Amino acid sequence: SKEARASFSEMAAEAKLSGYELVAFSTYRSFDYQSQLYERYVSNDGQEAADRYSARPGYSEHQTGLAFDIGEELFEEHFASESFGETEAGKWVAANAAKYGFIMRYPKGKEKITGYMYEPWHFRYIGVEQAGKVYESKLTLEEYLNLQFRKAEAPITDHE
Ligand code: DAL
Ligand code: ZN
Repeated sequence: SKEARASFSEMAAEAKLSGYELVAFSTYRSFDYQSQLYERYVSNDGQEAADRYSARPGYSEHQTGLAFDIGEELFEEHFASESFGETEAGKWVAANAAKYGFIMRYPKGKEKITGYMYEPWHFRYIGVEQAGKVYESKLTLEEYLNLQFRKAEAPITDHE
């Protein structure tokens, strides 16, 4: 998404003033690329474990072009790692991303609600106005939108 990319660039410029060089190390993914990633994770860790940290092809926010995996330049050891949340750059992003329209999608301790383990690096662009509201609510996007998470293959059996 050009809009999300532009907003990310603004955020990165602001972060730079505080001494953090932000990079988006994974953004848009095609269905095929998400399939490759997911299959690799399943063969490494097994499906049950993979499903806790990777979306199945067709179900990743990365396929929308709105999800940005954010890290700090030169600190690749914290890329896609829980440790990013403990770095100063990670804390800066957690505290400031909403001003640029991004929210952390998979916060700590919310796996039952979001369907995924803590990912302090994965942010989704939802626009400045909505991001501010979601951030202030301190809720996950699922709770905020009152959605019920469903695993990829689970049939939707009820309608509210
Ligand atoms: N890691 C996130 C859940 C994804 O695969 O989209
Ligand atoms: Zn991600």
